[in-house]
Amino acid sequence: MAIELQAPKGTKDMLPQDAHKWNYVENTFKNVAKTYGIREMRTPIFEHTEVFSRGVGDTTDIVQKEMYTFKDKGDRSVTLKPEGTAAFVRAFIENRLFNEAQPTKLYYIIPAFRYENVQKGRLRQFHQCGVEVFGSKEPSIDAEVIAMAMETLKELGLKDLHLHINNLGCPNCRPKYNEALKKFLADNYDGLCDTCKSRFEKNPMRILDCKEKKCQEITKNAPIILDFMCEECDTHFNKVKEYLDILGLPYTVDPGIVRGLDYYTKTIFEILNSDFTVCGGGRYDKLIEELGGPEMQAVGFAMGIERLIMTLDKEGIEIPNENLVDLYIGDRGEDGKKYAFKLAHDLRDLGVNCEINHMGRSVKAAMKFANKLGVAFTTILGEDELQNEKITLKRMSDGETFEVSLKTIEEIKNIVKC
Ligand code: HAM
Repeated sequence: MAIELQAPKGTKDMLPQDAHKWNYVENTFKNVAKTYGIREMRTPIFEHTEVFSRGVGDTTDIVQKEMYTFKDKGDRSVTLKPEGTAAFVRAFIENRLFNEAQPTKLYYIIPAFRYENVQKGRLRQFHQCGVEVFGSKEPSIDAEVIAMAMETLKELGLKDLHLHINNLGCPNCRPKYNEALKKFLADNYDGLCDTCKSRFEKNPMRILDCKEKKCQEITKNAPIILDFMCEECDTHFNKVKEYLDILGLPYTVDPGIVRGLDYYTKTIFEILNSDFTVCGGGRYDKLIEELGGPEMQAVGFAMGIERLIMTLDKEGIEIPNENLVDLYIGDRGEDGKKYAFKLAHDLRDLGVNCEINHMGRSVKAAMKFANKLGVAFTTILGEDELQNEKITLKRMSDGETFEVSLKTIEEIKNIVKC
């Protein structure tokens, strides 16, 4: 049988020429997180399946259709993380982080796996930068988390962004809404897709998130949750808006967003551009308890790194790509090569990024190669240079040359690093 030599559908290699884009997104996110006092946490790439079936909700598309679930050799059902939140809640409870002073502010950068219909910006293995804040029910933390997401996107240089917010209510007000929704949907029950028919009794709100056209047509004029909110949810939502106003963050109240995961209560939000949603999140005040932890509230978000990079490319944002190599040392003759080999080693000790000729290239070919690499400086080491104990450094950006002694490698460093 022929070996399948293509990456699996819906997965992508990160190629070296794109590495700086990934680093740019991840470092920007981490730097912004630091300014909000958010610390990193890492959890395993797979979890017991229950973490997600109970955490994300068994009427969601993710759990019903998209999880990479398999039995390990000990016959346990495990699942590759389809998202980060439920896994973080599991770790928060298991490691008893709830005993520490609250709030617990955490971030992650993870691969996530969903068996989705592959299309532009929709992959089966994708990556997320996310934040989860545990332990506060204050509306100010909802607004801070939203502001942190917006700040990351602004720091990345993105402009075409729209913040949409909504409130999904709580176990007090949502049952009344569900009743109203069911009443509305009952007339069109036969027109719903099979998955939505199965959701009708258990979780009718899920139907609002269905990707099937016929279901979307039916739910177009459905009642909205904002008309059913209890006083507590209403007050909370108004305060979140007030805090966003204090920061001057523009937003649209969009009753159409419901999110694709079941754990949300109260505030939810999405940040969109004209192509897709780059960030989604919200409050989930019941999940910690549902997964066996104490009564404790939480709020968070995740953004898709591939979607961010596609947006950076689309908006033509120049991403800093520092010189990979400060100095390329070509050689002439065996002795020159040996000296170059040791010189590069010593310069690297001083923090200079060096490359030497491992391909037996002629001086001309070596310079051509160095040019292609986009190095900052080049030099050649041959008999003359060894005899005179001097080399000439050539700055590639303008051709200016600098003569330096081979004895003072600090000076070489100072020139190529300036
Ligand atoms: P989510 O909306 O499912 O939320 O995903 C968050 C972001 O991940 C999306 O806005 C999108 O940018 C990206 N994303 C999702 N699916 C894909 C895919 N198939 N291909 C490429 N990118 C994708 C969550 O995952 C929640 N855990 C967010 C959260 C954290 N809520 C509270 N805390």
